[in-house]
Amino acid sequence: MPKYFTYKSIEDLREDIAKLGLSIRLETEIKALREPVKIGNFVAGNALGIHPMEGCDGTLDGKPDELTYRRWIRFGQGGCKMIWGEATAVLDEGRANSRQLLINDANAKDLEDILTKTRQAHREEYGTDDDLVIGLQLTHSGRFSYKKPFIAFRHPLLDKTTFIDKKTKTPIPDDYPVVSDDYLLKLEDAYVDAAKLTYNIGFDFIDIKQCHTYLLSELLAAKTREGKYGGIFENRTRFVRNVIGKIKNELGDKLMLATRINVYDGLPYRKDEESGIGVPRPYPIPYPYAFGVNETDPLQVDLEEPMMLVKLLRNLGVKMVNISMGSPYFNPHIIRPFERPPIDGYESPEHPLIGVDRHFRATSEIQRAFPGLVIVGTGYTWLQHYLLYAAEANVRDKKVSIAAVGRGAIAYPDYAKDGLTVGKLDPKKVCLTVGFCTALMRAKNNELGQFPTGCVPRDKIYVPIYGESKRGVKRDA
Ligand SMILES: Cc1cc2nc3c(=O)[nH]c(=O)nc-3n(C[C@H](O)[C@H](O)[C@H](O)COP(=O)(O)O)c2cc1C
Repeated sequence: MPKYFTYKSIEDLREDIAKLGLSIRLETEIKALREPVKIGNFVAGNALGIHPMEGCDGTLDGKPDELTYRRWIRFGQGGCKMIWGEATAVLDEGRANSRQLLINDANAKDLEDILTKTRQAHREEYGTDDDLVIGLQLTHSGRFSYKKPFIAFRHPLLDKTTFIDKKTKTPIPDDYPVVSDDYLLKLEDAYVDAAKLTYNIGFDFIDIKQCHTYLLSELLAAKTREGKYGGIFENRTRFVRNVIGKIKNELGDKLMLATRINVYDGLPYRKDEESGIGVPRPYPIPYPYAFGVNETDPLQVDLEEPMMLVKLLRNLGVKMVNISMGSPYFNPHIIRPFERPPIDGYESPEHPLIGVDRHFRATSEIQRAFPGLVIVGTGYTWLQHYLLYAAEANVRDKKVSIAAVGRGAIAYPDYAKDGLTVGKLDPKKVCLTVGFCTALMRAKNNELGQFPTGCVPRDKIYVPIYGESKRGVKRDA
């Protein structure tokens, strides 16, 4: 198993960055991260954030449960001033797992309660929460919905690994329908209902999630789909344009709009059985099945359409865009560079620094093209305690407005507090990117059909949970 993160000092890391010809910069004096960031009518008190990180630990009807509260409250205490609340399905059938949060009338009070407690935890720690911005990510899991797949278009590679029965690994049949235009039209209204609820609950913003190859992300790539939601760019963005238009009709400018987008879907990978390393599944050229890829060389990022999308969204009034890429299911090294493969993954086909650099480059190109827009950056966690220095450099260089952390925040929820007070992160608390959180996410063998996820190496309450998931012991908590 290759070991990439071997750095004893920042110089060692800089040496590798130079050797690989990458442009990642590190700044050790923490200044820019302390500066407030204006987001629409809100102000976040610093430039550090927490990405949406679901814990798969809600109740079966989609309310936050004990561990959900614990995670959110720890995030509230952590010192980041922008918390991007986790994936919350707008319809039960669009949930990615049986314990994903679900927004509806019945759950609104509970979502309000978790928001209140998160804010309260922040106030107790920092005296005020006036400069804390918290949103909620609204999602439909599309192809990856746990009850049955909802596909935006027939994908010649992914359809082979999209199962109608996960236990028997039965792929969707050739006559499996794509979601109809009528379904999408009704789904737009479900997003609007969810947006109204989110606003009434008191979240500062909603994220109309368009990343990680879930339904709205897949729609952006639906070049081969027929009808008014497929084909040309205008059709592929119809859904999000309609949703924003309908929300504006109902709420005017009262609710701040944000979105997390994939700027590069990449190709599906599989594990090479001999080497264990990830290799792209054989793909046709041209490759019209992904967003943000060069169709004649889909290993390459092509930001032409993502730039058009950001421009469109900005013109429609979106105030904050979180830049991401890849899919947790078919190219995990793209979405989250790792040291050790996730349970259903493969050894990284590239040095993880290349993956970090891919995130930073794409984000900085977008931030440069839209200097007035709040751009949130991804891809920091693999850098472990050096992530703070990359965040400082990127914010200082105006390559990003807010640097946010995903896995790093479940390992070390108060990373921002340490980063901004002590000026450095504790190497003993950082995420090691060794994949236990994904292993728990994939563990379904209990009564609830889903184990909760968290950081096994850094958060001891997840150690017995992980043990049970390995043993396949039935548990009901
Ligand atoms: C356990 C887990 C839960 C996640 N939940 C979400 C989610 O709810 N919504 C989302 O957009 N991304 C989610 N992600 C992706 C992260 O937000 C983030 O994009 C990814 O981990 C890369 O950032 P990092 O390198 O800082 O971890 C999740 C990732 C993990 C490992």
